[in-house]
Amino acid sequence: MANAGMNLFDVAGKTALITGGGSGLGQFMAKALAEAGVRVYLVGRREDRLSASLGDHDGAIFALDLVERGATDHLFDMILAMDKQPDIIVNAAGINPRRHADDISESDWHYSVDLNLNVPFLVSQKFVPYMKQNGWGRIINIASLQSTRAFENGISYGAAKGGILQLTRAMAEAWSRYGITANALAPGFFPTELTAPLFADQAAAQRLAEATAIGRNGALEDMRGPLLFLASDASGYVTGQSIAVDGGFTAK
Ligand SMILES: NC(=O)c1ccc[n+]([C@@H]2O[C@H](COP(=O)([O-])OP(=O)(O)OC[C@H]3O[C@@H](n4cnc5c(N)ncnc54)[C@H](OP(=O)(O)O)[C@@H]3O)[C@@H](O)[C@H]2O)c1
Repeated sequence: MANAGMNLFDVAGKTALITGGGSGLGQFMAKALAEAGVRVYLVGRREDRLSASLGDHDGAIFALDLVERGATDHLFDMILAMDKQPDIIVNAAGINPRRHADDISESDWHYSVDLNLNVPFLVSQKFVPYMKQNGWGRIINIASLQSTRAFENGISYGAAKGGILQLTRAMAEAWSRYGITANALAPGFFPTELTAPLFADQAAAQRLAEATAIGRNGALEDMRGPLLFLASDASGYVTGQSIAVDGGFTAK
């Protein structure tokens, strides 16, 4: 019985939809789920990145721009044609235009808020009826340090990531009684395409590392445990919450 508790983290046989699955955190989380026996559906704009990310894993790729009008309906129709629907949704697609509040254009504002905030809701809402039927579902949103504090040139990104925390609570309020939990992972600084401009400046990256309690920036592997916790039965009575995976950045 020593390992009995480990079954709580068993996600084998589930199906997961991961937006932003072609790179960075989304790619890593797709890999971590696939390695745990989950079929993975990856969404992003770049087909080559999605294919490389899927590799030999069981699943499918859907190359589309989630911000385009009708994209989430189109995605839903394509996934409906698959023999398995998602039990787990990881809303990892995101973008940061990095524009000062004085200069950000209306189109950059809308694109960023659409992708970072509206799309996670619209994608999740589509698959809730299936999850309700099963009495089981996991929605995992990706928050940020900018969900609770402002960083330079983050006006639209921060506004959307602040909204993600409340969206997560509201999803939990709406759907948890059907066995569907909604939670967020809030990463600190991880080296990905999104943060490439920050990590290009070694001194700045070192300052960020020193701002954590642990003393280093994130490594993709740091996401695996929190992800499997939120994706599995282990977190069955946890909903509407955000888990900071930030090395203690927000604790210090
Ligand atoms: N890295 C960090 O330190 C950090 C910290 C806190 C939060 N986050 C969050 O983590 C999530 C993943 O970011 P990341 O750091 O892994 O950066 P990333 O590698 O740039 O990932 C973003 C993903 O979103 C996809 N994407 C962008 N626009 C899209 C669109 N219109 N339609 C569909 N997919 C789109 C991109 O693929 P395509 O370009 O192929 O479309 C890409 O795979 C984001 O929500 C981000 O805000 C990251």
